[in-house]
Amino acid sequence: MADIDEKKEKDFAPHIPQKAELFFLKGSNSLDWGMKNRLARIFNPTTGRTVMLAFDHGYFQGPTSGLERIDLTILPLIPYADSLMLTRGILRAVIPASTPQSIVLRVSGGTSILKELSDEGLAVDIEEAIRLNACGLAVQVFIGGEHERETILNMTKMVNLGTRFGLPTLAVTAVGKEMARDARYFRLATRICAELGAHFIKTYYVEEGFETVTASCPVPIVIAGGKKIPEREALRMAYRAIQEGAAGVDMGRNIFQAENPEAMIQAVRAVVHQNETPEKAFSLYQDLSHQKKGKRQKK
Ligand code: R5P
Repeated sequence: MADIDEKKEKDFAPHIPQKAELFFLKGSNSLDWGMKNRLARIFNPTTGRTVMLAFDHGYFQGPTSGLERIDLTILPLIPYADSLMLTRGILRAVIPASTPQSIVLRVSGGTSILKELSDEGLAVDIEEAIRLNACGLAVQVFIGGEHERETILNMTKMVNLGTRFGLPTLAVTAVGKEMARDARYFRLATRICAELGAHFIKTYYVEEGFETVTASCPVPIVIAGGKKIPEREALRMAYRAIQEGAAGVDMGRNIFQAENPEAMIQAVRAVVHQNETPEKAFSLYQDLSHQKKGKRQKK
């Protein structure tokens, strides 16, 4: 067919080589376009980091404190998160479909706090994850746990399925009561998950040697917050984790159980995306909390 705009002068810029940009996330450059695009919706491409808000706790422990009414307590926090980690039940029932934040879907489950927690299977199929427009699939892996093998294979199955459709898998390293929470254990757990194909990994921060955990893991690490601790300490933990190589947080209780969750998530954001010191982030937390109290009193 003849070129209909033949008369217009075209500019092919033959002297300008096409850019071949490296993908911004550690260990992710060889992934396919769809997988990278989804990761770029979980991690902010400008900072290379993420604030994931985790509120999937109900999948094994029911209505956790702070999550009794997700519609009331979590929805106001969503604008400050980059990504939401949750179950499909809560996603469908409570989260507005107009939410722009990316979704990392909890896909493992099958146990409760009343029984052996490591006895999990895969509880969501890949078609459902795609239908729900998930950007990531989260699977619990219990290294050293009673069902270590099954949970590792849950993860590798999800990596295989996700790879078919371009969905990255988040391996969540769960620590059994009998396991030592130290750098040696987390190096082992995170490295096994990465070697077996996890695209990013969630683990806990440890005071001693956390930089060896991030250094020996070839894909990005995000930290869980763990049990509720004072806000100042939680910000210090997030700061140290980021400075020691974490690519963000996937934090739950230390945000939604904070005295002022909305202020807390903004302070965590400042630490993650602006390298704010814990001291400055804590005074931001206090300022935002006072502002909120002031607004309430005026009403
Ligand atoms: C735990 O199994 C869940 O995956 C939670 O999402 C995770 O522990 C993060 O929440 P938190 O910051 O409360 O530890």
